[in-house]
Amino acid sequence: MMRLKNKVALVTGAGRGIGKEIAMALAREGAIVIINDIDETSAKEAAKEIQASGGTSKGIKADITNLEEVQEMIEKSKQEFGPIDILVNNAGYWTIKLFKDTTPSDWEKDIGICFIGTLNCCKAVIEDMMEKKSGRIINIVSDAGRIGEPYLSVYSGAKAAVIGFAKALAKELARYNITVNNIAAGVTKTPGVENFLKMVGEERLVKAYPMRRLGKPEDIANGVIFFALEESGYITGQTISISGGYTTL
Ligand SMILES: NC(=O)c1ccc[n+]([C@@H]2O[C@H](COP(=O)([O-])OP(=O)(O)OC[C@H]3O[C@@H](n4cnc5c(N)ncnc54)[C@H](O)[C@@H]3O)[C@@H](O)[C@H]2O)c1
Repeated sequence: MMRLKNKVALVTGAGRGIGKEIAMALAREGAIVIINDIDETSAKEAAKEIQASGGTSKGIKADITNLEEVQEMIEKSKQEFGPIDILVNNAGYWTIKLFKDTTPSDWEKDIGICFIGTLNCCKAVIEDMMEKKSGRIINIVSDAGRIGEPYLSVYSGAKAAVIGFAKALAKELARYNITVNNIAAGVTKTPGVENFLKMVGEERLVKAYPMRRLGKPEDIANGVIFFALEESGYITGQTISISGGYTTL
């Protein structure tokens, strides 16, 4: 189905993993997709994959922790495709350590990519959305930000910050017909979690998931499509967990 035909979507950190799958799903629904990543090669490759299947896409390198780079990226895509209709704040980073072993540079990375990156991207797109009186902002957060996960304390805090920010931004932007929602992923199989799965043991972890499987990037992408649709326009400021029943808040 082409339920997002001609909408312009930006997905951050979409060179691989969940972000790439979100980008593919948006393209299948007819959206023009800007693939952002700090890794230029993977951003361009992912955009090529979409083009090869008949979609419209462009890969743009930018470090989302840097507001100027983000603004340049938005300007570039605006010149070619017009303003962003759908922003998916997906790029993330997590330090896996007990808090006592973390350093300020770990804190800076988790908070910078998860929280400041989200602020930068929202800042760069919302004025255009306000002018158009429509828009969708969807943040990929984590159940860690709601229930707290040991070894992921700073990440848990950074994702909780995104959740709180989204609730407030949703209220500020509701009158402009812009919705802001969060998807809290449970453990989802991507390149980013390979080491973590080896560390904790995948079989052991799966037992904590009532559906007895870990998430797939498609599970998260399906949630993004839901929030992006016209029909979801009265849902804002919400956080939905996509974790096979692991987190039932
Ligand atoms: N995979 C999981 O189990 C899981 C669980 C809960 C939440 N999440 C969240 O889902 C999102 C995607 O996770 P993933 O597993 O696909 O991660 P991943 O590590 O596989 O991919 C993340 C992508 O973001 C890019 N990136 C990193 N820093 C960036 C920056 N400064 N600017 C632009 N791009 C940058 C990386 O290059 C990479 O391509 C993250 O926000 C993560 O916190 C993942």
